[in-house]
Amino acid sequence: MDPLSSRLMMFLIVFALFGITNVSSLQNLKQVYALVKWKSSLENSVSLSSWSIPPLSYNSSTNVLSCSWFGVSCHSDGTINKLNLSASGLKGTLHKFSFSSFPNLTSLDLSINKFFGHIPHEIGQLPNLVYMDLSDNRFSKEIPPEIGNLSSLVALSLARNNISGHIPPSIGNLMSLLLLQLFNNRLSGYLPNNMFEGGKIQNISMSNNAFIGPIPKSIGNCSDLIRVRFDGNLLIGDISESFGLHPKLNFVNLAMNSFQGELTDKWGKFKELETLIVSQNKITGIIPRELGDSVMLHHIDFSSNMLVGNIPKELGNLKAMLKLYLSNNQLSGPIPKELGSLTQILDLDLSNNKLNGSIPATLAYCRTLVSLVLSHNDLDHEVPPEILKLTQLTKLDVSHNSLVGGISSQFQNLRSIEVLNLSHNHLSGTIPSVFVGMRSLTFADVSYNYLEGRIPKCNAFPNASMLEGNKGLCGDIVGFKRCTMSIKHKHVSLKAVLDEENEAMRLDWSKRLNIIKGVADALSYMHHDCSPPIVHRDLSSKNILLDADYEAHVSDFGTAKFLKLDSSNWSELAGTYGYIAPEFAYTMRVTEKCDVYSFGVLTLEVIKGQHPHDLISVLLSPFSEKVDSMDLMDHRTAPLSLQTKKILESVIMVAIECLQTIPERRPTMYQVSTRLSALGLPMITSSSNTRQETFSH
Ligand SMILES: *[C@@H]1O[C@H](CO)[C@@H](O)[C@H](O)[C@H]1NC(C)=O
Ligand SMILES: *[C@@H]1O[C@H](CO)[C@@H](O)[C@H](O)[C@H]1NC(C)=O
Ligand SMILES: *[C@@H]1O[C@H](CO)[C@@H](O)[C@H](O)[C@H]1NC(C)=O
Ligand SMILES: *[C@@H]1O[C@H](CO)[C@@H](O)[C@H](O)[C@H]1NC(C)=O
Ligand SMILES: *[C@@H]1O[C@H](CO)[C@@H](O)[C@H](O)[C@H]1NC(C)=O
Ligand SMILES: *[C@@H]1O[C@H](CO)[C@@H](O)[C@H](O)[C@H]1NC(C)=O
Ligand SMILES: *[C@@H]1O[C@H](CO)[C@@H](O)[C@H](O)[C@H]1NC(C)=O
Ligand SMILES: *[C@@H]1O[C@H](CO)[C@@H](O)[C@H](O)[C@H]1NC(C)=O
Ligand SMILES: *[C@@H]1O[C@H](CO)[C@@H](O)[C@H](O)[C@H]1NC(C)=O
Ligand SMILES: *[C@@H]1O[C@H](CO)[C@@H](O)[C@H](O)[C@H]1NC(C)=O
Ligand SMILES: *[C@@H]1O[C@H](CO)[C@@H](O)[C@H](O)[C@H]1NC(C)=O
Repeated sequence: MDPLSSRLMMFLIVFALFGITNVSSLQNLKQVYALVKWKSSLENSVSLSSWSIPPLSYNSSTNVLSCSWFGVSCHSDGTINKLNLSASGLKGTLHKFSFSSFPNLTSLDLSINKFFGHIPHEIGQLPNLVYMDLSDNRFSKEIPPEIGNLSSLVALSLARNNISGHIPPSIGNLMSLLLLQLFNNRLSGYLPNNMFEGGKIQNISMSNNAFIGPIPKSIGNCSDLIRVRFDGNLLIGDISESFGLHPKLNFVNLAMNSFQGELTDKWGKFKELETLIVSQNKITGIIPRELGDSVMLHHIDFSSNMLVGNIPKELGNLKAMLKLYLSNNQLSGPIPKELGSLTQILDLDLSNNKLNGSIPATLAYCRTLVSLVLSHNDLDHEVPPEILKLTQLTKLDVSHNSLVGGISSQFQNLRSIEVLNLSHNHLSGTIPSVFVGMRSLTFADVSYNYLEGRIPKCNAFPNASMLEGNKGLCGDIVGFKRCTMSIKHKHVSLKAVLDEENEAMRLDWSKRLNIIKGVADALSYMHHDCSPPIVHRDLSSKNILLDADYEAHVSDFGTAKFLKLDSSNWSELAGTYGYIAPEFAYTMRVTEKCDVYSFGVLTLEVIKGQHPHDLISVLLSPFSEKVDSMDLMDHRTAPLSLQTKKILESVIMVAIECLQTIPERRPTMYQVSTRLSALGLPMITSSSNTRQETFSH
């Protein structure tokens, strides 16, 4: 007799001596013995230290002893009815577990341990078991057919083990089953036809196995169905025939199988449906517009199928939508502007389809968008400036389309953007220097467009691969020419244009604001992105050259200096009378702030059409009467809209700050450039049409 058995024998003798003949006490004693015996077979049972028979004493009162043991619960008569050893660090097998000692066990939870080996056939000897959770262990081999003997079972989870083989058809005997979780195992074969015949099942998860064949038809009669997961198997069959009427259906994931057939209007009839994932199958046909009736839907994933036709505008009714993935299909036509009604959406992926037309500006109403992926389609027109107000956006991918226009400095309004992919489009113009200030930006892919000009010094361009295939970019990046500050002699000076009546008339407000912005960006670049910084020292309307598109080019760097940050000091006078900062006369020191002053003068000059002269001191004087802003504006150009007038007034305010007598009170050119961008000034492109359009927004 082993020591344990002899201890038990001693107990029995004690019981006999004291006349304890109560049946349940004896049952309890048998169970105590069974548990301790099983414990001694485990490789790790540290958490079961309470599972021990105390030294023999005449005072022993064993019949409630085991009920206080770790993980053990008893019926009122003292027999064990629940065993919960979940997450107890146990390691071992069930081979020594005496199932027959626990005929009244209703609940067995051994989840989240390191149990291994097969599930014993004796498991069928628990006729009262209602709840069995063996998930998150390392059980292997097959599911014993005796599982079908557990006729009271309501919840069965064998998920996250290493169980293989087929599901025994006896599982169809479990008529009370509400929950069945077999996900993440190595099960294979057909799903038994009768497996849902109980008809009560609510939640099924068979994900990530290797099941073949169709979903059993018996699922169609399960009217209480809530959650269904068959994803990650090898299932086939017509998806339109796989379900019936399930008014409580809430979650369906059929992804990564080989389901075929079409999505029918049936899916619009499940009023509680929140999640519908059928990605990576072979589903054909159109997206039924009735889907828009399933108003609880908040996660749709139809990606990687063979869907055709338009995206129904009715999807805009799904106001609860958080994630909508339709990528990798053959959807065509426009992106419905109604998607702008999805005001809670986080992720929208329509990539790899055949969508055409423009990106709807209404997407700007999707304020919560975090990721917007429209790549690999046939979208044209510009990136609508409205969507550049999506401040939560971390990823914007519109690559591989036919988008035109420039990259507006309004991209800086994408305050959270991390990945910006504009590659493989027809974008032209320059990359705005505001990219430098976009802190969150980690990757900006602008490759394969028609961009030219200076590459802003910005970490978002780690190497040439994100810039290659453009028209004429330059900068300090391996694979690109260094930029030269070219003086374009054939261009005409801003002064000449302003002095000439007809030319000045043609220089409308949009063009003038573009010039101001262009000069501000150029100076910001010279001051803040060049190392060492460059101070121009002689900014005037004579030194701003305009090209055929009225694009401003800062020229004449004859007097420009590299600014040594420690001793910014030159004794010789430079600059043009009327643009020189007042402090220069007495300090003879040149700083960036001298350029800021000149920029202030120049700005007023562009708006007024002539040098502001004495107006400067009037504007700066705290005692002067209020100057009518109309007196500061050129009357030769077309009449102002109210909106343009407001913008011009804001620009004048910036100019006045640049003209402050005390240099420290002037903003930096970076601040000026940023503030001008924030006003919604026109973007800098080589197409004046584009510019005007943008400005009107
Ligand atoms: C016997 O057990 C009871 C209850 O557990 C306790 O109060 C008592 O002190 C014990 N007597 C002896 C002799 O150990
Ligand atoms: C099972 O439960 C019944 C009723 O409570 C009880 O009489 C019987 O002793 C229990 N059997 C075991 C082995 O626990
Ligand atoms: C088992 O105990 C854990 C906590 O230790 C609990 O989360 C779990 O719900 C219990 N299982 C059952 C079937 O009561
Ligand atoms: C238990 O299950 C086995 C295998 O399915 C079956 O042969 C047997 O008849 C069942 N026993 C009872 C009592 O239902
Ligand atoms: C799963 O079981 C197989 C045998 O059925 C075994 O070879 C394999 O090592 C097991 N995997 C794990 C992770 O336990
Ligand atoms: C089925 O899932 C739903 C939703 O998660 C849950 O509320 C319900 O309790 C589950 N049913 C069972 C039997 O576990
Ligand atoms: C569904 O239930 C009806 C009525 O109980 C029955 O006639 C039919 O055979 C069942 N269908 C399936 C597929 O189990
Ligand atoms: C989009 O493509 C379809 C053909 O698939 C064509 O009929 C339609 O005119 C196109 N729409 C636009 C805006 O290009
Ligand atoms: C941008 O998109 C293109 C094509 O869609 C892709 O090849 C490239 O890797 C993407 N770039 C980044 C930075 O993600
Ligand atoms: C460019 O940088 C990206 C991101 O760091 C990297 O994935 C890619 O391999 C690099 N390409 C080359 C040609 O170095
Ligand atoms: C500026 O230069 C002048 C003449 O070269 C020199 O006397 C003066 O100390 C310098 N000032 C600074 C701040 O370097």
